This record gives sequence, structure tokens and C-alpha cells, in this order.
Amino acid sequence: MSMIDNRIRREDLKGKIVSAEEAALLIKDGMTVAASGFTPSGYPKAVPLALAKRAEAGEQIGITLLTGASVGDELDGALSRAGVIKRRFPYQTHNDTRNGINNGTIMYQDMHLSHLPQYMSYGFFGNIDVAVVEALAITEDGGIIPTTSVGISPTAVKLADKVIVEINTSQPMALEGIHDIYIPENPPYRKPIPIEKSGDRIGTTYIPCDPSKIAAIVVTDITDKVRPLGPIDEDSEAISNHIIEFLDYEVKKGRLPKNLLPLQSGVGSVANAVLGGLVKSPFTDLTCYTEVIQDSMLDLIDAGKVTIASGTSITPSTEGLVRLHKDIEKYAKYIILRPQEISNNPEVARRLGVLSMNTAIEIDMYGHVNSTNIMGSRMMNGLGGSADYTRNAYISFYTTVSTAKNGDISSIVPMVSHVDHTEHDVMVVVTERGLADLRGTAPVERARLIIDKCAHPDYQPMLNDYFERALKTKTKHEPHLIGEALSWHQRFLDTGSMKLK
Ligand code: COA
Repeated sequence: MSMIDNRIRREDLKGKIVSAEEAALLIKDGMTVAASGFTPSGYPKAVPLALAKRAEAGEQIGITLLTGASVGDELDGALSRAGVIKRRFPYQTHNDTRNGINNGTIMYQDMHLSHLPQYMSYGFFGNIDVAVVEALAITEDGGIIPTTSVGISPTAVKLADKVIVEINTSQPMALEGIHDIYIPENPPYRKPIPIEKSGDRIGTTYIPCDPSKIAAIVVTDITDKVRPLGPIDEDSEAISNHIIEFLDYEVKKGRLPKNLLPLQSGVGSVANAVLGGLVKSPFTDLTCYTEVIQDSMLDLIDAGKVTIASGTSITPSTEGLVRLHKDIEKYAKYIILRPQEISNNPEVARRLGVLSMNTAIEIDMYGHVNSTNIMGSRMMNGLGGSADYTRNAYISFYTTVSTAKNGDISSIVPMVSHVDHTEHDVMVVVTERGLADLRGTAPVERARLIIDKCAHPDYQPMLNDYFERALKTKTKHEPHLIGEALSWHQRFLDTGSMKLK
């Protein structure tokens, strides 16, 4: 079978193959475009690059862009620089998009990723005019086989007036079969999602699509612009060791089975390191019910520690991608990719008893977490799926290094400058200094634990001083000196350091 026969298995669709420039002409000013892609993985590349060129040549074109989560430079970068993205949902990690959001040229709502497909299907973003979806292949029935991510693609294909498919020949055919596509109905017709174990399959291996909706097919081989991961440094290793020691203790106490419960791990270097630490741990037969599968998952698979990893995308680093492609037949046996509405589903997370591990920008002494807005207002990335899991986990962990910016910022503060995760959801706080188990504690007990176990020694006296003075005020439940609570942030903005001179 020729390469193209294998990738486009329906004769009548071969006539839909066009150039990226021609396909991009389907996207017009004012449209809402829903694209595949989740944490620079499996996003369309050739069509957005062609769209950006039109804007650069002077055409007035502005769109609302929806994706599963962050995408790479060819989509978020090129379209942000060309001024094409006017509205963006629900998550991003690109500098040019971030700058547009923070300088007010891009309207952005930071959303729970599990909510997005439902928002789309109720029409909160208006009509979905075009879906642009990267695919491995198109089946005999017009079904679209995704590549390394699923994200919102099933909902995008279902709702869009027109579908543009980017067949990416750099994506290995061995990925066929790893997807599990299930789209829940809207209430009151929604059924229980029948996942009882991380490895349960409940759907199809392709996205069902009426072939008449496929308006254009573009063939490309541009690879995902995955990002390098930071090396596993001493701080991340210390955080990882605290968590493993804690998990060991919970097993001994009989509160966790020997092979733990399904793990969810956030994005970024710290999250990758925490999971990587499990390679050297005594735990075996681990399972994962997570969002993004990063390099450390490949390590866990290689070490024979994991029986199944369920997620919505595979996003390795640059080196990880080479490794993934080299051994794809092996890794594919351990991985299931689901729509983000299912990978991040609160019902499933609560049923499975997920152990969620996500990263904070700052945490306050009562256990509120800011994962998104630096100094209360500068958007970093977004909360992504972290809260989907945090609120529904059996144990929710938040990790951060105790200081940032060479020690000028304490990541443990009297009051966070923005709240993503509340004291009601955050169960265990971990820094390189230690771990605070907040379960079953009152706010004042939490404050002592967090300051003693997690804060940096440079800031412990300041935190204790604030807390002791707050305790002397009239109200003892969650004591604050309200006029002073955010003064640490103000001092950083004024002087470049939270430290007292
Ligand atoms: N105050 C101000 N800036 C801070 C800070 C603080 N308390 N803590 C960290 N930062 C800055 C760092 O200096 C760094 O800035 P730089 O990029 O200018 O160097 C940046 O935030 C990232 O910090 P880093 O230590 O490199 O952390 P990371 O790569 O582990 O990312 C988050 C941390 C919180 C930004 C990231 O995990 C995230 O976006 N989380 C939210 C989404 C999420 O959890 N998704 C997973 C759900 S499944």
C-alpha cells in the first residue's frame, strides 16, 4: 500500500488534498477556529503558518482560537506575532501569546480544561466555524485518527461546520490504536462514564466524522516543537524524595495500596522530576490517570514500573521525542490517549482515587495556591487541568521550590496574590525543605505546619512574626492583618525583593 493510501483510506477524500495556503483560505476574519493540540503536541502547523502569512501580507484577519491546551510556535507563536489571535481559550505557554494577553491585545479566559468541550457544545464561544486537526490517517469511514494528543479534537470535529485535516507523516503509524474516543452527551442525557480502572477502554480508536464535512486535507511532515525539560536539580529531587517517603508512610498506615493509586502529574520540570523519582522507588505496578505523558513516564515504562498510563497527550522533550519514536511499538502498548473531557474528568478522578501532583507559583500559610498570576496579575500559563484533579483527588499535592528569583521571592507567603486552588482542596504542600500534610487541620494548625516544614529559613522569622501578630487580632479562625497581607508582594514590586532591608 502506498504511503498516501495508508494515510487516506477513502478514495473520494484524496481529491480533497490541497496546499496549506488553499486550506487556510477557509479561515476568514471573525471566525472561531478550534484546533487539535495539547501541550505542544499534535497541533496543526502548515495551515496556521499559511494563515499567518496572509495577515503579514496585510490582510485584516482576527480569530478566536480554541485548542486543548498549549500549542507550539507554528500556531500560537506565528498567529500571535501576526496579530491574528484576538481571543484565546483555555491555556497557553507561548511567550508571544502570553505577552499579547498581558498587554491586553489578546482576550483570554483561564479555564479548567475539562470544561472546554462542554462550553463549546453549549455555544459559549459562538459557532465553531472551522476545525483544524492534525491526524495520523483518515479511515474508510472518514474517521480521523489523531496523533500524539486528543484534547478537544472530537468535540471540535463534531461541532465545526468545516474540518481541515493535516495529515502529518512525521507521526509514526504505530500510534494507531492508542486512542480511546468517547464523547459524553450533555445533561440530562449524560451517562456515567464507565471507567473503573486507568486502562479501561470505552470508545473508538478514531474520531467519528461525516466525510462530507472534511473540506480540505493538507499533507505535511513538520514535527512538533516540543520543549526541552530542565535537568533534574537538587531541589526537585528533594521534593520528589519527600513525596516518596510520604507515600511509603501512607502505604504502611494502610491508607494506600502497595502499588499506590493512579498518579496524575502536572507539567514542567518539577512535575517531571517528581514522577522520575518513582523510578528509583520501591513501588511497582503503578498506574497513571493523568493529562500529559512526559519523559519520566517513558523512564517508568522502561523500568517496568508502570502497567498503564492514561492521558490526553504525549509531550516528551526534544530528546524524549527521539526516544519515543525509536521505541514507539513498545510505548504504545502502555499508553491510552483520551479526550480531555475524559482524562480530566472529575467523576473518574474521584472514582479512581487519583493522587494528583501539581506545581504552584506561590502558596499561602493557610494552604491557598496560586498557579497562574505572578504578583496577582501577570498571567504565566493558566491553571490547565490542575484543578480538575486537585478537587477530586484522593490526595492532592502542591509542590514548589521555597523561593524564586534567587531568593528575592518567598513562595510561601502570608496571603496569595491570586487564588487557583483553595484551602478546601489542597491536602499536601511540598517544597525542597519538607512536606506539610494539611489533612484534618484547622487554618491556624496549617499555618504552623506550612511555615515550619516548607518555608525557606530566610523567610521563616518574617512568616512567624506575621502569623503571631495576626493571632493577636480579634478573629481567631483564619487570622490576617488585612492591610499587611499583600505587603510582601508590594515590597517586591517596589524594591525587587520581598526581604526587609
Ligand atoms: N513569584 C513570582 N515568580 C515565580 C514564583 C513566585 N512565587 N515562583 C516561580 N516563579 C517564576 C519563575 O521564576 C519562573 O520564571 P521565568 O520563566 O521568568 O524564569 C517561572 O515562574 C516558572 O517557574 P519554574 O520554577 O521554572 O517552574 P515550572 O516550570 O515547574 O512551572 C508553573 C511552574 C506553576 C508555572 C507551571 O507548573 C504551571 O503553569 N502550572 C499551572 C498549570 C498546571 O498545573 N498544569 C498541569 C495540570 S495537569
